[in-house]
Amino acid sequence: MHTSFAGKKIVLGVTGSIAAFKVAGWVSALAKDEARVRVIMTQAATRFVTPLTFAALSGEKVVSDMFADDEGPEISHIELGKDADIILIAPATAHTIARMAHGLADDLLSATVLAARARIIVCPAMNGQMYAHPATQANTARLRELNYQVIEPACGMMACKDEGQGRLPEWEQVREILLRHLSAGDLQGQRILITAGPTREPLDPARFISNRSSGKMGYAMARAAYRRGAEVTLISGPTALPCPEGVRRVSIQTAEEMRTAVLAHFSEATIVLKSAAVADFRPETRYADKVKKDQAELSLGLIANPDILQELGRKKTGQLLVGFAAESGHLLQEGKKKLQKKNLDLIAVNNINQENTGFEVDTNQITLIDRQNVIELPLASKERTADLILDHVITLL
Ligand code: CTP
Repeated sequence: MHTSFAGKKIVLGVTGSIAAFKVAGWVSALAKDEARVRVIMTQAATRFVTPLTFAALSGEKVVSDMFADDEGPEISHIELGKDADIILIAPATAHTIARMAHGLADDLLSATVLAARARIIVCPAMNGQMYAHPATQANTARLRELNYQVIEPACGMMACKDEGQGRLPEWEQVREILLRHLSAGDLQGQRILITAGPTREPLDPARFISNRSSGKMGYAMARAAYRRGAEVTLISGPTALPCPEGVRRVSIQTAEEMRTAVLAHFSEATIVLKSAAVADFRPETRYADKVKKDQAELSLGLIANPDILQELGRKKTGQLLVGFAAESGHLLQEGKKKLQKKNLDLIAVNNINQENTGFEVDTNQITLIDRQNVIELPLASKERTADLILDHVITLL
C-alpha cells in the first residue's frame, strides 16, 4: 500500500523561533501532497511570520488565541487535536518544550497538545547552548517518556551565527518520519536487508569495471520499507544518493565486499531484496600502481565474482528471498530459470531494452514471478513500484 499524505490531517504547531519561516515551506509541500494542514501559532510565532503566510499556504484559517471570540466551538483546543493524524510542533522553542514537559495548558497550542490523542512529533530548534542546557535536555527526555517523538536538531551554524546542535532538521527527514507514522505499518517487526547500486571492480588505483545501476530502485525500496515500519539495512555500492532516513547503510565497493556485508547481516534478516547490479566479473589482476598506457596489455583477463544471491538461496533458513533481473529479452523464461536456479521466493524482472524502465530513469515496469504467479506491474515511478513489490512480498510472508 502506497503511503501518502493525501487526505491526512496534520496539526502544525509553530512557536517563536526564527526557524518558523522554514516551516512555511513545509506547509506548502504538505499542501501539494494533499494533506490537510491546520496551523496553530503561539503569540511569539506571529512575531516571526504572519498568520496570513500560513493561512495562504494551508488554505485554512490559522488559530493562535485560546479565547478568540469570533470562533465557534468547532475549533476549540479539543476539536483541533481530536481528528488529527499527527500533531507536529515545529519549530519547538525551549520554552514550548518546557511547557509541554510540565503539562501546562496556558495557550491554544499547549492545550491542544494535552487534549489530543494523535501522535505528537516535536522538532526543537534553538541556539545550541540552549538545547544542550540540562534543563532543556531533561525536558526533551520527559517528552520522550510521555511518548512524544522528539527529532534531534541538526548541527551547523544557526541564525545567531553560533555553531552547534540546534538547527531545524531538513524537511526531507521530517517528511519520512511523518510518512512512517501515517503508513499502515504492515512491515512492522520485519528486518529487511536490501542491496542496491552497482559494484566497482578495480583494475588499478584509477580504473574500474562497473555498470549503469544508479541504485534508485533499491533506495526507493529502502525508503518504502522504512515508512511501512520495517527495520532496514541497506548495503550499497557507490551511488550519488543520500542515505534514506531511518535506514542503516553499509557502503561497499566490490562484489567481494558486498558478499561479506550481506553474509554478516543475513542471519538476522527476515526479508532480503537483492536489487544490486553485482558485477559478474572482476579483473584478474588488481595493480597497486596505475597501469601506464605504454606498458598496458590490450586485453583484460577477468575472473568470475561469487554469485551472492545463489549462495543465499543455498543458505536460507526461513528468510524470504527476492532477486532482481535486468533482461533484454525472454523475460519470463529467464526470470523463471533464475527463480529456480537461485532458490528464490520471488524475482522482479525488468526489461532494460524498453524506454522508461531499468537503469538511471525514475520509472520502472516490472514483472513479478513467484512459485505460482506471474504479475505484470504497471509502468510507474520507482517509488510506487517499490510499494507494489512490497505489497506482493507481504502476501508471501
Ligand atoms: N547477483 C548476485 N551476485 C552476483 C550476480 C548477481 O547476488 N554475482 C544477484 C543480483 O543482485 C540480482 C540477481 O542476482 O538480484 C541477478 O541475477 P542475474 O540476472 O543472474 O545476474 P546476471 O549475472 O546479470 O545474469 P545473466 O546470467 O543474465 O548475465
